Amino acid sequence: MGKGVGFAKTILFGEHFVVQGSHAIGASLSKEFSVKITPSDTLNLNIETGQIVLDASRAILDSLNLTGNYSIEVETDIPSGAGMGWSAAYSVALVRAAAQEKGVELDWKEVAKHAYEGEKVFHGNPSGIDNTLASRKGAILFKRGEDPSAIELGVPITIVIAYTGKKGYTKDLVAGVARVKEEKPEFFADLLKKEEDLVMEAKYSLEQGDLDRLGALMDQNQEHLRQVGVSSPELEELISIFKDEGALGAKLTGSGGGGCAIALVKSKNDTSAILQRIDKKYLIFEAQIG
Ligand code: PMV
Repeated sequence: MGKGVGFAKTILFGEHFVVQGSHAIGASLSKEFSVKITPSDTLNLNIETGQIVLDASRAILDSLNLTGNYSIEVETDIPSGAGMGWSAAYSVALVRAAAQEKGVELDWKEVAKHAYEGEKVFHGNPSGIDNTLASRKGAILFKRGEDPSAIELGVPITIVIAYTGKKGYTKDLVAGVARVKEEKPEFFADLLKKEEDLVMEAKYSLEQGDLDRLGALMDQNQEHLRQVGVSSPELEELISIFKDEGALGAKLTGSGGGGCAIALVKSKNDTSAILQRIDKKYLIFEAQIG
């Protein structure tokens, strides 16, 4: 028997562009995904899922050289398809459970590396940011193929996360952005450069605790995401509610197409107007980062 956990995450800046080579900034959230595995005759899960989850699980077990079958018991309140890294948190939790079953100790980098094998099955061409965020606590600056670096926040930041109620399909959305790059190479190269500059300025603003500037950068990042076609009417509605109620900045988080939007607020006391405006049937919560 082996047990493990992975964290939900939010991407603050740079999603999608990170797949194409720019930096991105994200943070893990306190929501957890727990996995327990026990040897079994077949590979199975205790929840309804598509074949893709079994395929990703097999890829992870193979990556750890575990050839047997297992009953995988999962427990989580992370919604799937919401841009909060369900698949990465699952993959990380399964890596940890499998490592315990095998009796090996892995540091977070090794955990993230094995979890990437699951993410490849889920998403086709993942940047690796989700499995990195799911495997460790805190905020990081991430670039594909490089070691991530921790960001020391000047002040803790408060964000509100709301779900559109509509799933986003990461694989298709990432492929859609790759099509924009292929069809309009100059436009995309220019946007990628602007995004890279924006992410580096956001890192500096996080370190300085410059919340007003961070909010403005979030709005600008959302504009870049609109331009590559990954926003949606539901996300735009949430973002305009956030802005109406005084958010310093707002954007989609994760792959978009639905999923979640995030708002940066000045302090915990500024969340109540937003919380009142959003339909309670949509998952909504506050997170403190740093
Ligand atoms: O699948 P999500 O919504 O958790 O976020 C994926 C983040 C992307 O930048 C869109 C893809 C990636 O691999 O970095």
